[in-house]
Amino acid sequence: MYNTKILLPTETNIELCAKELFDGEVIAFATETVYGLGANIFNTEAVSKIFKIKNRPPDNPLIVHVPSVEDVRDIAAYISDDAYKLLYRFSPGPLTLILKKKQSIPYIVTAGADTVAVRVPDNKVAIKLLTATGFPLAAPSANTSTRPSPTCAKHVMEDLNGKIKFILQSEDDCQFGLESTIVDMSGEHPTVLRLGSLPTSTLLDTLPNIKIASSIENGVLCPGTKYRHYAPNIKVDYVAFNKLTLSSLTKIYHNNKNTVILTHDEVKLDLTNFEHINMGSIECYAKNLFSIFRECEKKYQSIIAIGVSDKGIGRAINNRIIKASK
Ligand code: TXA
Ligand code: MG
Repeated sequence: MYNTKILLPTETNIELCAKELFDGEVIAFATETVYGLGANIFNTEAVSKIFKIKNRPPDNPLIVHVPSVEDVRDIAAYISDDAYKLLYRFSPGPLTLILKKKQSIPYIVTAGADTVAVRVPDNKVAIKLLTATGFPLAAPSANTSTRPSPTCAKHVMEDLNGKIKFILQSEDDCQFGLESTIVDMSGEHPTVLRLGSLPTSTLLDTLPNIKIASSIENGVLCPGTKYRHYAPNIKVDYVAFNKLTLSSLTKIYHNNKNTVILTHDEVKLDLTNFEHINMGSIECYAKNLFSIFRECEKKYQSIIAIGVSDKGIGRAINNRIIKASK
């Protein structure tokens, strides 16, 4: 058991975390999407601690984080022109590419696969930490498996208190609030495997031949997507935006005890007679979804989350709510 501490992102604390990582420890750190739980990719014992701490199934591979686009070359055996296009346009940022792995990347990181997930986070503290260590960090989201991903240090503490030494904060914690978008660039056709903070419509502007896996809402594309995910400890009901009516909502509401409706700016219904929380704009909904899940489980027995229209980041929000409702 550790006495887990939240660290401000001072130069001294970043150095301290880099040293701990060098010594084979596991550290939580902020990124622009969600908090990550990092370990040196070349230290298999350290990487195995990640799986243990998170209670993560060993067949679920990890994302490798590097400080710059140039560093992706040390991870991937081959980077196609299209992959470079995406990298130069969207990295650093909430984009993860699946590429053929270099031999030097240990199989524990990729869960036995010959491909590797890699991304350059767009967060100053994360980049400083990666630069200070001098080695890439394998980092899944810093939650216990199945729980909503953490978007502030307090969430990491809720799940991992006593299990890690340090949580490295940043001034601009997780401004997106949903995980990175994952694109498989290792095969013949670029394919989106996980919806995320980078909207697929934006990706399509750069690479019009990109496919969105047709089963993305329900299928098992990333090994991780077959598990229950992003879920608070209470029941979640999803109501699709295009199926929303006051009568259907009223029915679900009265079927549930001690429930709350998550609504947003696109919803024009009068909800004054219902316990509800307005999540605001689509961007705010994405940013605060996981945090609201965690708050609601302390006060309510269930959540009715109204989905959004599928444009922009909307589809990723719907995806997370649907996963949490299963
Ligand atoms: O925004 C993010 O991506 C955050 C921050 C911390 O960077 N990380 C994150 O990691 O969401 P995690 O482990 O919670 O989700 C990674 C997903 C999993 O569903 C995993 O199965 C998939 O990426 N993945 C990793 N390597 C893969 C590979 N070689 N092929 C297919 N899917 C892979
Ligand atoms: Mg995760």
